[in-house]
Amino acid sequence: MNAPLQDACARPVNYLRISVTDRCNLACVYCKPLSPSPRLLHEDILRFEEILVIARAALESGIRKIRITGGEPLVRKGTLSFLKKLSHLPGLEKLAITTNGVLLPSSLDQLQDAGVHQINVSLDTLDPEVFFRITGKDAFHGVWAGIEEALARKCFIIKLNAVALRGINEKDFPALASLALDNSLSVRFIEEMPIGHHHHADHRPVLVQEIKNALKDLGPLIPLPSDPLDGPARKFTFPGARGEIGFIPALSRHFCHTCNRLRLTADGRLRPCLLSDISHDIKGPLRRGADKKEIQSIFISCLRHKGAEHIFHPDSEGQVDTAMARIGG
Ligand code: GTP
Ligand code: 5AD
Repeated sequence: MNAPLQDACARPVNYLRISVTDRCNLACVYCKPLSPSPRLLHEDILRFEEILVIARAALESGIRKIRITGGEPLVRKGTLSFLKKLSHLPGLEKLAITTNGVLLPSSLDQLQDAGVHQINVSLDTLDPEVFFRITGKDAFHGVWAGIEEALARKCFIIKLNAVALRGINEKDFPALASLALDNSLSVRFIEEMPIGHHHHADHRPVLVQEIKNALKDLGPLIPLPSDPLDGPARKFTFPGARGEIGFIPALSRHFCHTCNRLRLTADGRLRPCLLSDISHDIKGPLRRGADKKEIQSIFISCLRHKGAEHIFHPDSEGQVDTAMARIGG
């Protein structure tokens, strides 16, 4: 195994998130830019062959986990065959995807064939009408069928991501969390980050403590240890439960001291942090013929710019005008 990459704060960095497209087939209220930017053009987006070159260089530098994100990664033609090629790269211990689940039912055979280990599905509610209100699409039943089928296959780690939205899905928290009682999956509640403009009326954030209070009737939350490849969620379970509950306290308790991540954007920039203003062009050098060493040196200089922490102000709406879809969350 390669020695892990380290940033300037001596944090090991072993997890690369790769956004393969800025396009999405949903329009969620929490995921829109402040100033809508034009869609990336075909030539702006990294080709899959280019991503494979970058991924290979990253894995040889000590990255061990890769997550494919978007936009919605499954809307890009060729993502499934790309995943299969990616899964064969030496050094990759965990291949994961984050998806809204709309195309999950028709993608599961190929996800399984590609050896994808983990599927994170955005699911903010179990109520089809609330789903429509949040996403702008009447697609709940298809997404749910995909989750059930993925669970039945017993070959994926399944995590559900619910962004907590005041006045919209608060009443759904217990039902969502209950899924972890009888199913081998993880249900994660995420504090809504003030990224871009939030297209819903009540912007007062629902913080993790409030969510925990809403789950009291399900039993005491028992903390679980974390794994070095884990993302930011703090993990818990209920007594006797088959699954897990996760909390991502993006506002109330920042987790930068444990950050192990770098991001590759759909347009070929390496970002040291979701919220950093800094990003390093990797597509330009690659298209000018950079070799593996040069690509690896971009990883190193990007890590030198990885800040010690970022802090959100819980009451600031649209604080960061970042296109979440282009960075991939
Ligand atoms: P695991 O590999 O299962 O731990 O997944 P993950 O939590 O790394 O990935 P996922 O794509 O499911 O993201 C869940 C949530 O965590 C999303 O809202 C992301 O935007 C958020 N997130 C991931 N990394 C960071 C980070 O470094 N900072 C902040 N503020 N949020 C993050
Ligand atoms: N705040 C918190 N989480 C968000 N996501 C998208 N936008 C936001 C936001 N503003 C989450 C979705 C998706 C993941 C990649 O990012 O739940 O599953």
